[in-house]
Amino acid sequence: MTSSDFDIRRIGGRIGAEILGVDISRPIDPAVVGEINGALIEHKALFFRGQSLDDAAQLRFASLFGELTTAHPTVGSADGQPNILAVDGDGVRSNRWHTDVTFIRTPPKATTLRSLVVPPYGGNTLIANTATAYRDLPEALRELADRLWAVHTNDHDYAEPKTARAAEHRRQFVSRRYRTAHPVVRVHPESGERGLFIGGFAQRLVGFNADDSRDLLRILQGYVTRPENVVRWSWAPGDLVIFDNRSTQHYAPDDYGTLPRLLHRVTVAGDVPVGVDGERSRVVEGDVAEHYTPASAA
Ligand SMILES: [Fe+2]
Repeated sequence: MTSSDFDIRRIGGRIGAEILGVDISRPIDPAVVGEINGALIEHKALFFRGQSLDDAAQLRFASLFGELTTAHPTVGSADGQPNILAVDGDGVRSNRWHTDVTFIRTPPKATTLRSLVVPPYGGNTLIANTATAYRDLPEALRELADRLWAVHTNDHDYAEPKTARAAEHRRQFVSRRYRTAHPVVRVHPESGERGLFIGGFAQRLVGFNADDSRDLLRILQGYVTRPENVVRWSWAPGDLVIFDNRSTQHYAPDDYGTLPRLLHRVTVAGDVPVGVDGERSRVVEGDVAEHYTPASAA
């Protein structure tokens, strides 16, 4: 397949594009992979409709972008599939803006999600562009953000679990405790673009008390979640979505009641984030998660 064989159709004005004319279950020419990766960096989230992928094909596709992580640093993988996380809505809902796994030092580069079961309505995924959010900041706030660092953790004050399954998930989620200091403004390793790197696991700003941290993070986060910076994907069975986990946040609205929903998630290993002054993220508590990511030695 050559580049002329596929189309990139933008969805949002600032984020998201649908890729048409690529059957990602088949081998893809490296030049095309390069173009898809370029599109991913530019549009942050790419959507492939009507694919017929199984787990093996999703793993193969994700591997085109780099080495894979295991399913999760603390949560078990899908049965017999060490690199696949089953995302089902059974008592566990991701209705909180976040970037995946930012509580470790080397969060994933990219996340792929494949729909297996989708509700007839609701159950969408929202994805936000954190680079345009950064550019939206008034200059004085941008200069402040450039100098801030945030501690991200998997163990914070989640809402009280409503079901036994949710309580069990929560117990597993915090079974190892991680705290990592990341720059609030991350320089993208491939594009050099600056973006806000915060989200739900960012709980505390270095050098600020809890109240001030919450207020400042809320102000910055408000720019990420402005509708201008967000694309909303309505799932159909057989869709595959890949987003750049270095320049996005995402949110899954909890609006589908008890209807079933199942996605499989495969993530591509990422590097150590770097701030505008060249300083790299550092572990505050916990290990470098070598059981999770091959990038841990970076
Ligand atoms: Fe997520």
